[in-house]
This record gives sequence, C-alpha cells and structure tokens, in this order.
Amino acid sequence: MSDLMNQLNETVAYIKSKITSEATTGIILGSGLGNLAEVIKTDVALPYGDIPHFPVSTVKGHGGKLIFGELGGKKVIVMSGRFHFYEGYSAQQVIFPVRVMKMLGVETLLLSNAAGAVNPDYKVGDLMIINDHISFFTMNPLMGKNEEALGTRFPDMSEPYSKNIIAKAKAIAAANNIHIHEGVYTAVTGPTFETHAEYRLIKVVGSDVVGMSTVQETIAAAHCGMKVFAVSVVTDLGIREDNNVITHEEVLQAAKEAEPKLTLIFKELVATL
Ligand code: HPA
Repeated sequence: MSDLMNQLNETVAYIKSKITSEATTGIILGSGLGNLAEVIKTDVALPYGDIPHFPVSTVKGHGGKLIFGELGGKKVIVMSGRFHFYEGYSAQQVIFPVRVMKMLGVETLLLSNAAGAVNPDYKVGDLMIINDHISFFTMNPLMGKNEEALGTRFPDMSEPYSKNIIAKAKAIAAANNIHIHEGVYTAVTGPTFETHAEYRLIKVVGSDVVGMSTVQETIAAAHCGMKVFAVSVVTDLGIREDNNVITHEEVLQAAKEAEPKLTLIFKELVATL
C-alpha cells in the first residue's frame, strides 16, 4: 500500500476509535466563520494536534478542531479551521482532511470562505454561492502520483459544485429573505492580498471573488467522488482603487457580521441532504 493510504488508514482508525456515530456530511469553515461550530450539538471534538498525520493550523481566527456532532438533525463532521497553502503546507497536506472525511463516509462537503469581491455589484457582507472556480493561480493538489484507490488520474470538473445543492440553497436563502449571489471564485496562493493590477486581472479572467482557500479542497473532493457546495462571504472589495487598504482584521470582522446568514443556510441545507 502507498504511504498516503497507510497514513489515511492510520488517521481514520484513530478517529474511529474516538467517535460514536457516522456522518455523511462534512463541513469546512473559513476565516472568521468558525461560529457555526457553536450551534452544533457536539459529540466529540478532536484537536488537530491529537490526530495522527493532521497538519496543525497556524492562523489567527482558525479554530483547529475536528468536531463530530449534530446540525439540522443530521450527523456532521466539521473542520473548525482549515489548512492553507500559504501557511507552508503542501497542497497534499491541505487536502488530507478531505480524504479523511471521504474515508469516514462523507458524501457531501460544504465549504465556506472569506473572499474579496471583484464584481462591482457586490458589497461587503454579501454571500456568494460558488458555481464554478478558476484554479490556475494555485498548485493543483492532485499533481504527483495518482492514488487510484481514491479516484481517477484525470478527473472531470464539469460540475465541481453540485447544481442540485445550489438550487436547494437558493430556495433556502429566498425563503429567509437572504440576498445571495452566485458566481465564480478564483483561488490565489496568498498570503498577500492582491495589488490593484492583480484584482483587475482576476476580474477580467471571469471571476466574481478571489480567495486563498476552497479550490484545492474542492478538487480533492471531486477526485474522490464527493458532492461539493461552497459559499463565499465578501469581506472586502478588491476593485476599489481609492485608498483601499485591506487587513486581516477587517476580513475577520466582515466575516463575523455576515456569519449568521451563512449559519442559517448551512443548517437548513444539511437537513435536506
Ligand atoms: N483576496 C484574497 N483572499 C481574500 C481576500 C482578498 O481580497 N479577502 C479575503 N480573502
């Protein structure tokens, strides 16, 4: 067996020795969006540091626990705090938890993130359902030897974000009077925010928002046959060129303010899965 499969098996065996129930929905929460974890009826919370082969998160605002519990009447596995490429992890490390979730029985992955808008119609605090992405500015996490036990060498990416789940989420948003956009997320490595020229470039290639996460996880999920649903919270407006200084603190604050809307959508969505 490959080193990767050995590691995954060890990680999964450890987690299974600690949990009492199985979940088919996994959730990965973005920067400043960890409070969803608080509305979960937690059965077990495993600090990343205790889980064999799990990387440990280093960024302020990222929780660092794998939570097993109940949301919307369904069992869920929640990553409170994710791993980013800019922290120095390899792309393979970033996606390791997605693969662990798959091996724990997860079929649907919900993701959230903080993102900068390049669509001039978007405002800080808006939500956007990701209906497609551009990955070319970051490392593809499937580079290297393909793990056939997980998925095919050349995965199809015609529908990385489930149209069916998007339709459900839009209905939930409408029923709750939550204004929500639908658009394209472009991934960058970070950790710098973009220059004006970079935001302009990202806009002209067809993006609505830009961020430093989500796409590698989505690619890994698509590779192993999971359905994905992802939402961005607009935390800053990249294309504003008037003295537009963007700080991590401002991103976290905007995410926190928009979070209740996102929590409601995730909670009601999980109930339908
Ligand atoms: N750019 C990249 N990543 C981000 C941004 C941004 O403007 N805002 C939040 N994450």
